[in-house]
Amino acid sequence: MQFKTIIEPFRIKTVEPIRHTTRAQREAALQQAGYNLFLIKAEDVLIDLLTDSGTGAMSSNQWAGMMRGDESYAGAKSFYRFEQAVREITGFKHVIPTHQGRAAERILFGSILKPGDMVLNNTHFDTTRANVEYRQGRAIDIPIPEAHQPGLVHPFKGNMDLDALAHHLDNHWEYVAMVMMTVTNNSGGGQPASMANIRAASEICHRYGVPFFLDACRFAENAWFIKTREEGYGDKTPLEIAQEMFSYADGCTMSAKKDGMANIGGFLALNNDEWAEKAKTMLVITEGFPTYGGLAGYDLEAIAVGLHEALDEDYLRYRTRSVAYLGDILTAHGVPIVQPPGGHAIYLDAREMLPHIPPLEYPAWALSLVLYLEGGVRSVEIGSVMFGLHADGSEAPAAMELVRLAFPRRVYTQSHVDYLAEVILYVYGMRQQIRGLRIVQQPAALRHFTAVLQPAYGALLAV
Ligand code: F0G
Repeated sequence: MQFKTIIEPFRIKTVEPIRHTTRAQREAALQQAGYNLFLIKAEDVLIDLLTDSGTGAMSSNQWAGMMRGDESYAGAKSFYRFEQAVREITGFKHVIPTHQGRAAERILFGSILKPGDMVLNNTHFDTTRANVEYRQGRAIDIPIPEAHQPGLVHPFKGNMDLDALAHHLDNHWEYVAMVMMTVTNNSGGGQPASMANIRAASEICHRYGVPFFLDACRFAENAWFIKTREEGYGDKTPLEIAQEMFSYADGCTMSAKKDGMANIGGFLALNNDEWAEKAKTMLVITEGFPTYGGLAGYDLEAIAVGLHEALDEDYLRYRTRSVAYLGDILTAHGVPIVQPPGGHAIYLDAREMLPHIPPLEYPAWALSLVLYLEGGVRSVEIGSVMFGLHADGSEAPAAMELVRLAFPRRVYTQSHVDYLAEVILYVYGMRQQIRGLRIVQQPAALRHFTAVLQPAYGALLAV
């Protein structure tokens, strides 16, 4: 008998209490935090979906690995175990540990970019873009057009626009320092890229002698979508699929806080000897010696084990199902979300849900605050507060107004998700009462982290 219920493929050995607060307490917490969820204390949050980065639960095998951590400064056993795990999955020659993903990005771009160079990506994650621009490079996004239509269902909405890629390379290949494919495409809704698209992008790049890299943060979730959605991959293991994905690339940057199943860590892996040499020089100056790269030996052990756990079929089935389960409930009740549900998160479409709030009164920000006020749920706005302020100080609406509910790995169970669905449906029912906000104080860049806001019309909710 094949039973149909997909269960959490683990049992729980350590628990961390979460705390209920009253609505009045949350109202006061919001006021005190300047209506900014980044400034709320985690202990005042009931279900924390701010990010899936570094927030997962580690397995008993990972904790056992940590006890085995070799803290030697140079040549530690833990480094070689880590290197072997990364090499088995990616096949890359040089494996350079870093303290997290953005350090790998900084070291890579710091080693190879010249001012004016271009980097093309299906969609740059914000730290990736910032690291390109910090080197005075130009970060250009070329997702397929379907990526900009939240309600449209497409199996591989994370694909790169291959015509746009060929066009850029035809016209100015000499300025294109590298092309990156972000798997899955986080800023575009956690959507996967297909193997066919990865292979074709790689071929186009190599025709022009341009290196092709993966931003591999969620490589295992991407591999699972290829297995379940792409013709010809159903019988392959996630490991085999991941190996094929990496075989088309010349290197990757990785945040092990995602599909490394660790609380901290990352790496840069690549084949080019000259680039690796430059990257290691920079690594020694800012991160640490090449066999630890800013991590403890025990972190390297946790990642070595975690990378393989992320490729476990039962885990990936449960992981993607728990996100889709929420997506299905919301869709059945007409709540607009980015379709189809992504690998690590559900993205609510606030522009569609709250048409009465103009973009520069921040509808997605308002929605995320009301989810916290009513249900103690913390999410993150990906909209005009995050992306609306430009380097010259001008302000313009972002392309989309989304609220991301990111699922930490192996942390919440189905009843948490049921609760979440209840909160979202309740808030959806009162959507016409939700009012916009204005910014009263903000820094010059990355304003969402520290900006102070106020309800534009006295209160978050009209009575
Ligand atoms: N690339 C992608 C696609 C990411 O999602 C992230 C992080 C990074 C690079 C940077 O990695 O945080 O280890 O330095 N994303 C987190 C998030 C922060 O919430 O989506 P990092």
